[in-house]
Amino acid sequence: MQYDLSNIDINGLVPDTEPDRQKYFMAKLKEYVSMREKELNRKLTMCVVTFGCQMNARDSEKLAGILLQAGFVETDKEDSDFVIYNTCTVRDNANQRVYGRLGYLKGLKKKNPNMIIALCGCMMQEPHVVEKIKTTYRFVDIIFGTHNIYKLAEILYTRLQSDRMIIDILKDTDNIVEDLPSERKFSFKQGVNIMFGCNNFCSYCIVPYVRGRERSRAVQDIINEIKALVADGVVEVMLLGQNVNSYGRGLSEEITFAQLLTEIEKIEGLERIRFMTPHPKDLSDELIDVMSKSKKICRHIHLPLQSGSSRILKLMNRHYTKEHYLELVKKIKERIPDVSVTTDIIVGFPGETEEDFLDTIDVCKQVEYDSAYTFIYSKRTGTPAAVMENQVSPEVVKDRFDRLLAVISEISAKNSGRDVGRVMDVMVEEVNDHSPNLMTGRLSNNILVHFEGCREMIGKVVKVSLEESKGFYYLGKIVD
Ligand code: SAH
Ligand code: SF4
Ligand code: F3S
Repeated sequence: MQYDLSNIDINGLVPDTEPDRQKYFMAKLKEYVSMREKELNRKLTMCVVTFGCQMNARDSEKLAGILLQAGFVETDKEDSDFVIYNTCTVRDNANQRVYGRLGYLKGLKKKNPNMIIALCGCMMQEPHVVEKIKTTYRFVDIIFGTHNIYKLAEILYTRLQSDRMIIDILKDTDNIVEDLPSERKFSFKQGVNIMFGCNNFCSYCIVPYVRGRERSRAVQDIINEIKALVADGVVEVMLLGQNVNSYGRGLSEEITFAQLLTEIEKIEGLERIRFMTPHPKDLSDELIDVMSKSKKICRHIHLPLQSGSSRILKLMNRHYTKEHYLELVKKIKERIPDVSVTTDIIVGFPGETEEDFLDTIDVCKQVEYDSAYTFIYSKRTGTPAAVMENQVSPEVVKDRFDRLLAVISEISAKNSGRDVGRVMDVMVEEVNDHSPNLMTGRLSNNILVHFEGCREMIGKVVKVSLEESKGFYYLGKIVD
């Protein structure tokens, strides 16, 4: 989505309502970019680097949308005129990667002193991070947070008018700015925010502190966005929220996540609906029911377990037990045939004993996940778990982590290939990276399939006979 900025009076008063105010600054920025282009006799380039989850990836599309609107040309190289890092702080290694890459940026800025460097995203919501950047990384030009990414044009324009580091961080917000320009990475699929923030406060997790209180977007705004996407060629949407089950809380209209899905299902031309992430504590029977009857909602549930021990789950503030989780998965598998269940697991939460860990292994064996993301517990300053006693030693954590990985790979190896011989619907996504005569697509349950085909098939659902399993993917043949 792009605006027509041609009739904005950039010498007039600055509007004080959004998104008009940002349109004004995009127009101002555009004028600046074209002036610089004439001076330099080349285009101005920009590069958006994303760390972290799909929420951040979606935010980056909005950042890129604003910059494209202002006339910048996008590159994937960091020796650009404007570089922005959209950061993540969910685990410490995410932070370390950002600090590491900043050292590299410093070198690039020495060669091009006019380069503007901006940092935004979850890390910037932590005061100690901002302090560190202010003192140790003086060459950074702009710092802003997660609540005002819509203001990029205004913030960048302000920086261009002054020589000082600009820091613009809101602690929290109840504001949702709609109708911003946005870049589209894929012609046929698109992530759509249905809610922002998180109110769950799992005791290990920094997200509620850096993403603020939970707020749902109005149903009509979501539907309108998806309809516009479908009109623009999109056939698959991924609905995004930290806990999609609690969608609707706080809205003036009464609506549940399952009802929202039912409304989205009615959109003609839309073929596939995915969502991320449901929380096991309030995944409703209504949702399972809607999924089981749906023709469009994909047969995939990513259901983060975190730990299989009820004792640890309580300390994690997850509000479910091992038994409740197993019961839930059983119900899902019974009601939704062919469903693929995947998960997230944390190893080494404070106080985790061998017995607790064996409960996690036990759940993995019972559920038989198609895949699992496993994480070593990372202490996040300001969360309740960071000050808990009995932090587990790195050696013990490493040993458990390796054992868990072995169990998970054994299970996925056993599971893989269960659909060999079947003909299934595949959404064609792209030309295969390694061989240009192969196409890569996805089953409804999110598993990849490679098969012979052509570029024209991208964005279409085709019937493919699954001939051979290669572990994480299938080799197939199109059937007419
Ligand atoms: N809202 C989602 C995902 C949030 S972050 C949910 O509730 O599932 C993605 C994953 O990162 C989490 O599921 C968790 O497994 C992991 N994670 C979050 N905080 C962590 C920490 N402090 N240490 C290690 N892993 C963590
Ligand atoms: Fe973090 Fe828990 Fe919220 Fe997920 S639900 S973002 S793990 S606090
Ligand atoms: Fe996502 Fe990382 Fe922020 S996981 S919400 S980008 S802390």
